[in-house]
Amino acid sequence: MFDDSLEEFHSSGLLTSTKGEYDAEENVLRPRTMEDYIGQDKVKNNLSVYMSAAKARGEALDHVLLYGPPGLGKTTLAHIIANTMGAQIKLTSGPAIERSGDLAAILTNLNEGDVLFIDEIHRLNHAVEEILYSAMEDYALDIIVGKGPSARNIRFSLKRFTLIGATTRAGMLSSPLRDRFGIMCRLDMYLPSELQKIVTRSAQVLGIEAEPEGTYEIARRSRGTPRIANRLLKRVRDFSLVEGSRVITQQSARHALEKMEIDELGLDETDRNYLRALIEKFGGGPAGLDTLAATINEDANTIEDVYEPYLMQLGFVARTPRGRVCLRGGYEHLGMKPSESARKQLSVFDAED
Ligand SMILES: Nc1ncnc2c1ncn2[C@@H]1O[C@H](COP(=O)(O)OP(=O)(O)OP(=O)(O)O)[C@@H](O)[C@H]1O
Ligand SMILES: [Mg+2]
Repeated sequence: MFDDSLEEFHSSGLLTSTKGEYDAEENVLRPRTMEDYIGQDKVKNNLSVYMSAAKARGEALDHVLLYGPPGLGKTTLAHIIANTMGAQIKLTSGPAIERSGDLAAILTNLNEGDVLFIDEIHRLNHAVEEILYSAMEDYALDIIVGKGPSARNIRFSLKRFTLIGATTRAGMLSSPLRDRFGIMCRLDMYLPSELQKIVTRSAQVLGIEAEPEGTYEIARRSRGTPRIANRLLKRVRDFSLVEGSRVITQQSARHALEKMEIDELGLDETDRNYLRALIEKFGGGPAGLDTLAATINEDANTIEDVYEPYLMQLGFVARTPRGRVCLRGGYEHLGMKPSESARKQLSVFDAED
């Protein structure tokens, strides 16, 4: 029964990412070792300890949950963990596993010490998630065979594997699932100096010549996110090339970023529309996410996962129980003044600081 579903599982592409993020270019830039993985020192140090200890005991690493905004290096880190442990890694994602049989097939085919990476683990459906509980805790699979009075519960034992789950929404994980991860790592946004190292490394890998002032200009406008830094590097390269300069300088980087309408802080058109709508249409808030999203014609999930984390990091926006509120920095960045009533609201936030 498992072999059938396994066959299906391979042909349905369950083992590949749904986001197409394993494309060639991103793969080339992906660091393979802890030494090449820049920043996130706390996470790296702790993981190194847990990995050494597991190796010394001759055991598989405990299950790991990696969480944080998109593009900060969760998938990359999962690969590095598997590499360091000398383990095989199997990749899948929450929405790709539709039925519990699919997951059962994946699990029974894991070997001792293998890493199973489930991306977007918060999007597993409930029936599938329940299979994971005993798999993670007891390395066992409980399957009900047959229907009605003749139904029987059969328990299969599994090899000791390591589950690595990645999510942009740790809060959306059910607590039974969350509690079964022995190791939880939150990835934070990167400092400009760290992003500059990443851009410099990527430029080397891609054979792009860049001056330090040029890589810094890209780094500080990359919203704390390596994926964005790499993307901006490639676009700046395009502008430089077409405009006849082979080396990325501060000036050529600035020029290209201005053409892309990415401002001094890395905000783009959507960020600015968001802030402007919040201020002009909702008096600075509070405004509900869905209403705000509809106003600027963006997807609410995208706003929540991609745009808001950085705006909150900058202290431009706050999430409150009553909705989103624009903070003083947001007004200042757009060169706008809060209304009388917005000022009253802001003084409450100032008092909290
Ligand atoms: N610490 C790092 N050092 C160097 N490069 C990094 C680092 N983290 C991420 N990158 C680069 O950023 C790109 C995106 O990282 P990755 O795909 O791992 O992000 P992610 O957290 O899995 O994102 P998502 O939530 O969208 O799946 C990688 O291709 C890699 O080149
Ligand atoms: Mg990923």
